[in-house]
Amino acid sequence: MCGEFYNSGMGEDILHYARMPWPTDWTAVFGREAPLLVEIGFGGGQFLVDLAQKRPSTNILGIEISLPSLRKGAKKVRLAQLTNTQVLQGDSKAVLWLQCLPQSLAEVYINFPDPWPKAGHQQRRLISDTFLHLLATRMQDGGLLDIATDHADYAEVITACLERTPYFDSRLSTTFVNQDETRLRTKYETKGLQEGRLCHYYKWVRNTALAPDSYAILEELPMPHVVMTSPDSLETIASRFTAQTLELDAVNIKFLDLYQSTRPGKLLVETYVREEPFHQRVCLEMRQRRQGDFVISLAEVGFPRPTHGIHLAVHALVVWLQSQSPESRVLNSTLKLTE
Ligand SMILES: C[S@@+](CC[C@H](N)C(=O)[O-])C[C@H]1O[C@@H](n2cnc3c(N)ncnc32)[C@H](O)[C@@H]1O
Repeated sequence: MCGEFYNSGMGEDILHYARMPWPTDWTAVFGREAPLLVEIGFGGGQFLVDLAQKRPSTNILGIEISLPSLRKGAKKVRLAQLTNTQVLQGDSKAVLWLQCLPQSLAEVYINFPDPWPKAGHQQRRLISDTFLHLLATRMQDGGLLDIATDHADYAEVITACLERTPYFDSRLSTTFVNQDETRLRTKYETKGLQEGRLCHYYKWVRNTALAPDSYAILEELPMPHVVMTSPDSLETIASRFTAQTLELDAVNIKFLDLYQSTRPGKLLVETYVREEPFHQRVCLEMRQRRQGDFVISLAEVGFPRPTHGIHLAVHALVVWLQSQSPESRVLNSTLKLTE
């Protein structure tokens, strides 16, 4: 199966969002064309497997951030010999934004999202006005959105968000119901019901209201590569390095640390780049060539993605090098600095 090319590298059938193409060709990943159903935060994976068994003619994608849950889910999928199901490691916001084309999702299930009950943690909750907007851009007209929660305070927030969204309508005569005997149950739900917690079930549908797509899929650019001259030696450059943070074009760049290779002629700058919805910790490389000039590039450590933010980070490093010695010159560059 195509998914094997993108897996987490841990010998399991777990896809990893940072290793997959943006957007992703889900037909190729599943090996067939079929409506795409997504479960966000599948936890133990019971609902995911039940859904896949009940709907064999659909492709089912389970998204999780927790590795133990992913392992459990992948094992259940394997034991049930499901060929219509994939589990994917990643933050659902980034997966929807980067990997899913507009109008590509037929159904989305969000069962008991983390309620983040502590004061000051509420902004970590998944469901918000902006998340519903993102979902609206990725779902097909007529696509189904089911949400369940047993947390009273979160239910109030979800109710308010759904009641004010222009992009979804309730499939019920009310915003939610507190009982639903027909639905597949999750592990968390069964436990909550046994403990007497009140559940809120939302069954909504994407309507035809146009949702402006403010969630452009990040573009992958050529590998950044700058050749420059400088009168400074790598030792001098290393001795002047200090950690710094910059904000360029809404991209947050942090030069965190600098490492000297045991081989002569190479420095690595540990760099953090945050460009919504993607965060990367990468190494930028400064290499001195035999002829004396320097090459500034992105080191192929891990699985770096050469985005606009990475090009800006390389540019910022070059600007810093030039600020150290005004005689330094850029000889050539593959940087693309405008979006
Ligand atoms: C309270 S548990 C519910 C699990 C399962 N749906 C159930 O009902 O038994 C919430 C799950 O969502 C996952 N999760 C939290 N934030 C997420 C995100 N941004 N993207 C994907 N999964 C997420 C957590 O790892 C956790 O497994």
